[in-house]
Amino acid sequence: MIPTLAWTPEGVRFIDQTKLPLEESYVLATTYEQVADVIVTMVVRGAPAIGVSAAYGIALGAQKTTAATVEAFAPEFETICARLAGTRPTAVNLFWAIDRMKRLFGKLRAAGATMAEVKEKILAEAHAMYDEDIAACKTMGAFGGALLPDKGGVLTHCNAGALATCGYGTALGVIRAAVEQGKQIEVFADETRPFLQGARLTAWELMEDGIPTTVICDNMAASLMHAGRIHAVVVGADRIAANGDTANKIGTYNVAILAKEHGIPFYVAAPWSTIDTATRTGDEIPIEERSPVEVTHHGGKQLTPNGVGICNPAFDVTPAKYITGIITERGVLRAPYAESLKEMELVS
Ligand code: MRU
Repeated sequence: MIPTLAWTPEGVRFIDQTKLPLEESYVLATTYEQVADVIVTMVVRGAPAIGVSAAYGIALGAQKTTAATVEAFAPEFETICARLAGTRPTAVNLFWAIDRMKRLFGKLRAAGATMAEVKEKILAEAHAMYDEDIAACKTMGAFGGALLPDKGGVLTHCNAGALATCGYGTALGVIRAAVEQGKQIEVFADETRPFLQGARLTAWELMEDGIPTTVICDNMAASLMHAGRIHAVVVGADRIAANGDTANKIGTYNVAILAKEHGIPFYVAAPWSTIDTATRTGDEIPIEERSPVEVTHHGGKQLTPNGVGICNPAFDVTPAKYITGIITERGVLRAPYAESLKEMELVS
């Protein structure tokens, strides 16, 4: 299994996703501030992985505190949560995980727990989120794998794989499950400029699993669709609004429009923790703007003329009307999403 992140007695260990695929190295975060830095610098990335990393960051903060009582720790707990919440704005899994920890801490405090109990319970909650994430990916795989063709090309954008989760992946979990079901899938991985999550990470992890993979530049998808080489698209998500509008890596929206034009199904795979019914439509989703250097430079080499204007939004929003289905661990949602989301929330 790909070791995206792991709790160790010394701290949280991350595979360094900024170095893959050329170097497989690890970063050990021994403080919650270091976990926050690891999220900001994209050593760890991908919505579910960010959420669980933040949970472990809070656990680390609790383990390392010198506060002797829960009351003395309470303001520090708030500082830890605020620091981790300030790392990246778009993936709602981050805020979902922090809110879950806040609720737990509130309950323990109200029940008069000791500091030793708080440390133990917070760590146990982070471990539970880790295990639940892998289980959700496996269940999404079972639901989504059945939707893919028995034989054909599947396009994915960015990396929604084991590296973006605690293991197995959301979109890549669906592909992995289809392959495990005996389907003959060839994956087309969009390179995903500017951070190249597709070319570097999706290609690396699928090759580790021996799944046939072809990297294409982001501007090649239309031509391949026209040539009949792509039969389905599966992507992940960073936040799904109450009406089904979906934020994911910049460029996802382009792919969705192309898929619709070519009559190709376009699926989003995401755990329930990515659904944010408090956000009514995609227009309300905060979109992270990242450093212009990611666009102006590659591998330390400048690509663009000095002083040129640069735009670098990390995500875009695909309107719900382009989405054939949203694959979750509770089942596959179909349009109209406002209704199917409500129904599935009630049955589960
Ligand atoms: O900026 P990143 O690499 O964190 O963006 C990741 C994505 O957009 C993924 O597709 C999304 O988080 C889903 S990961 C299962």
